[in-house]
Amino acid sequence: MPTFSIHTYGCQMNVRDSELLARRLRAAGFADAPAEDEADVVLVNSCSVREKAEEKALGKLGMLCAARRERPGLVVGLTGCMANRLGPDVFALVPGLSFSVGPRAAGAAVVDLVRRALAGSKGMLVPDSERGAEDALPAKDAGAGGPPAPASFVTILFGCNQRCSYCIVPFVRGREESRDPRAVLAEVRAEAERGAREITLLGQSVMRYGRMGFAWPDDLPSPMGFTEPLPRLLELLAREVPAIRRLRFTSGHPLGVTPELVRAMREIPAVCAHLHLPMQSGSDRVLKEMRRGYDRARYLDAVRALREGVPDIAITTDVIVGFPGETEEDFELTRSAMEEAAFDNAFVFKYSPRPGTPSAERPDDVPDEEKRRRDQVLLADQDARGQRLNDRWTGRTVEVLADGPSLRNAARWSGRTEQNKIVVFEPVPGLARGDFVQVRIESAHPQTLFGTVGAPCSAP
Ligand code: 5AD
Ligand code: SF4
Repeated sequence: MPTFSIHTYGCQMNVRDSELLARRLRAAGFADAPAEDEADVVLVNSCSVREKAEEKALGKLGMLCAARRERPGLVVGLTGCMANRLGPDVFALVPGLSFSVGPRAAGAAVVDLVRRALAGSKGMLVPDSERGAEDALPAKDAGAGGPPAPASFVTILFGCNQRCSYCIVPFVRGREESRDPRAVLAEVRAEAERGAREITLLGQSVMRYGRMGFAWPDDLPSPMGFTEPLPRLLELLAREVPAIRRLRFTSGHPLGVTPELVRAMREIPAVCAHLHLPMQSGSDRVLKEMRRGYDRARYLDAVRALREGVPDIAITTDVIVGFPGETEEDFELTRSAMEEAAFDNAFVFKYSPRPGTPSAERPDDVPDEEKRRRDQVLLADQDARGQRLNDRWTGRTVEVLADGPSLRNAARWSGRTEQNKIVVFEPVPGLARGDFVQVRIESAHPQTLFGTVGAPCSAP
C-alpha cells in the first residue's frame, strides 16, 4: 500500500484542505507515512501570501525532488495557492515535479494524479476552474482515519472579491463562492461525529458569506429572526448540531460587523466571544491605498460595537508594516490604533510585494531593516498589552477545551478558552482530548494563561 505525507504552509484554509486531501487519499487505499522521508508520495500544500512563504515551499520541493536520487520512485506534488500563481512555470522552477494542482481542483483530482504519478507520469498541471468548489470537499466515502481533532475547520466561502491592493488571494483563490448552508450543515455534522467539539467556519472574507450569487433556502427559517446569511448559518449550526459546543468564524472585516452579527455573537451561546479582525493599518492614507474600504474611525467603531455587544470578547488582528510609502507618522498611527483597539493578540507582517497586485507596481520603498524595526516595536507593544489583558483573567475560572499534552512540556496539557486564549494546566486522571474542563487561572503570560483544573464541567 503506497504511503503519503502532506507538508502544509499558509492559513487555516490550507490546513483544512490538507486534511481533506489526506482523507481522500486514505479512502482510496493510501496510508499515512510514518515519516515524510519514508513516504512514497509527498504533497506540498503551498501559500503565496508573502514571498518568504513561496521561497520556503520552493526550497522544500527542490529538496524533495533532489531526494529522488536515493528514492527514485518518489512522487512529489504541489497544491495550494502557488499552483495557481505559477501555472506551468513551476515545472521549470522545480524539475521533476510530478504534478501541480490548484486548491479548488485538488479534491476531485488528487487521487487520479497520485496514481498516474506513481505509474511514472510527470509534469501534470490541473489549474483551478471557477466553478466546482464543492469538489474540493470530501467525498461521501472519504472515510474516517486520522486522529479526531476536538477543534476542526469547515470552509464556507471560497475565493475573495475584495481586491485589497497588496493581496494575491483574489488571483490565486478565485472569485467568491458561498456554500449552500445544507452542505455546510452536513459537513459540520460529520465533523461532530468524528469527535469535533469546536468548529471554525473559514473564508478569506468570511463575513461576506451569502452576499454574492446566493439565496438562503426557504425551508431553513430563523427562529431568532436573523435576516443576514452568516448569523442565520451560525444559528442553524448551533441548533442542529448541539455536540458542537463552540463555533467561530474567520477572518473578519470591520464592514461585516453588523448589529445582527453582534447580536448573533451575544445571543447564540455556542458562538465564541472571539473575533479575528485584520486591521492592516491605523493610518487613513495607507488604508485608502490598501483599498481596504474603511478608515481608522470606522474600524475602531466596529471594535467598540463588538466590545459593547459581546461580553468578554477577545479581538485579534493582522497588521502590515512597511507598505509602500508608509511614513513614520503612518506607523505611529498604526501603533496608537492598536492600543486603542486593545487587541488581545496581533500578527504583524512585513510588506512583501506580490507580482500582479496593484501595490507591487509601486516601489517597495521602506527598507527591510526599517520594516524589521517596526515589526519589533509592534510586537513589543503587543507583549505588554497582552500581559495587561491576560492579567485580568487571573483569579477567574474559565472553560477550556482540552487539546492534549502541551508542546513545550508534555507533563502539562493545553487547551483554549472561548476567547481562543491558550491555557496550560496539570491534567487530572481520566482527562481526555476533547473534554471541557473548568480551569482556575493563576498566572498569565502575554500569550498564555496558566491554571488548575477544577471539577469536570461536562461529559462530551
Ligand atoms: N505582504 C505582507 N503581508 C500580507 N498579508 C497579505 N498580503 C500581504 C503582503 N503582500 C497579510 C495580511 C493578511 C494576512 C493573512 O497576511 O495582514 O491579513
Ligand atoms: Fe496563503 Fe492566502 Fe493561500 Fe491561505 S489563501 S494559503 S494565506 S495565499
